[in-house]
Amino acid sequence: MAQKSKNKTANKMWGGHYSMAPSEIMQQINASIDFDRKLYRQDIAGSIAHAKMLAKQKIISKTDSSKIIKGLQQILNEINSGKFKFKTELEDIHMNIESRLREIIGDAAGRLHTARSRNDQVVTDFKLYVRDSIDNLISKTDILIKTLNIKVKENIDVIMPGFTHLQIAQPITMAHHLSAYVEMFKRDKSRLNDARERMNYCPLGSAALAGTSYNIDRNFTAKELGFKAPTSNSLDSVSSRDFALEYLNCLSILAVNLSRISEEIILWCSNGFRFISLSEKFTTGSSIMPQKRNPDAAEIVRAKVGRIFAALTNLTIVMKGLPLAYSKDMQEDKEPVFDATENILLCVQAVNGMIDDMKVNKANCLHFAKQGYSTATDLADWLVKNLNIPFRDAHHITGKCVKLAEEKGISLDEISMEEFQKIEKRITPEIFKVLSVENCADARTSFGGTSRKNYK
Ligand code: ARG
Repeated sequence: MAQKSKNKTANKMWGGHYSMAPSEIMQQINASIDFDRKLYRQDIAGSIAHAKMLAKQKIISKTDSSKIIKGLQQILNEINSGKFKFKTELEDIHMNIESRLREIIGDAAGRLHTARSRNDQVVTDFKLYVRDSIDNLISKTDILIKTLNIKVKENIDVIMPGFTHLQIAQPITMAHHLSAYVEMFKRDKSRLNDARERMNYCPLGSAALAGTSYNIDRNFTAKELGFKAPTSNSLDSVSSRDFALEYLNCLSILAVNLSRISEEIILWCSNGFRFISLSEKFTTGSSIMPQKRNPDAAEIVRAKVGRIFAALTNLTIVMKGLPLAYSKDMQEDKEPVFDATENILLCVQAVNGMIDDMKVNKANCLHFAKQGYSTATDLADWLVKNLNIPFRDAHHITGKCVKLAEEKGISLDEISMEEFQKIEKRITPEIFKVLSVENCADARTSFGGTSRKNYK
């Protein structure tokens, strides 16, 4: 069936050589206004900088430039207050704003698009959006790091089991465990900062692909918009989205790190552990089991990695094999970036909320630290250091001690002196010092180790 044209007239922006309106399905597949309206602030900021520059360079008159800027400010208010009418037939945010500008200020609006194309306009808007998002995400991550550091200070004396293979391995402190995440999130922040540095160059003025014959001042617009400098190659400027890919890479790694701390929260809240509890502020009840308190927020953060990685994969595949310069494929860059941005911001704040909310069960952490013969390595080290036994043999002797304790259902510090000496006659009562989990943790004074000395 032939597609009907909803609008009888051709698009005003290229009506000069177009006499027919697009088919309805063409309009539907082509329009991006439903999602790129999110870029209105950046689009208006970009246009204001451009209008200022055009007047400064005497490409348009000061009067027209002022009219344009005033009109754009009015549009900003209209959109902010929900009064603006977005039109699908005007395709995208750029044409919606320009068309409204013409309604407000008349013909002078037509001068705004001098020495500019939607190709450099859209990538400028998008870069501003990504940069704003980086700044927002860095500040939210900073808050999370601060919250973690408060918990680190509060939990220096909480001894808990450290795990390998999720099997109890050696006693550590809760402070040391949480501080591992501080390191991870600090790297996430630094990755975002690096990406920001690399992307902070302004594409505006690259025009459609080849630059422009007008005497524009790209340094001026770059400065106006807070960029370090203008981009160096017009083709690259309009057709590269690697800044967005790098941003999504940063988000993906951050999402993985957030999913790991969320998984710990889930485990630590579970009946098998009970290292921490979350209040009613950060849990949900069950509609059938009145006793339940479920860590839903942590589970959702764990799952969000899926869509954040999907965004990265999505945009990577959109860009793969695209020849220079702009192709409409690139319109598909926005939704994954918007979705990943909104979700990662939620995740960082949710994890911050849970960390702030968590109550540590010190007694239970200690109880578990004593399970699983977590001081066995120290027993072996004592044999090496005090009896000059080679580590391999010490490991073997310790294995025998663990076996004995297992058979008797006791912990290592409950083995009697007599029994120890049956296994290795040179063992002295000094051994009991290293068998306590507290001493065991404190003995790890090496740089970066768990010892409480490293935290005081
Ligand atoms: N809506 C478009 C996008 O997001 C704007 C650029 C359109 N450029 C063009 N030559 N059709 O990519």
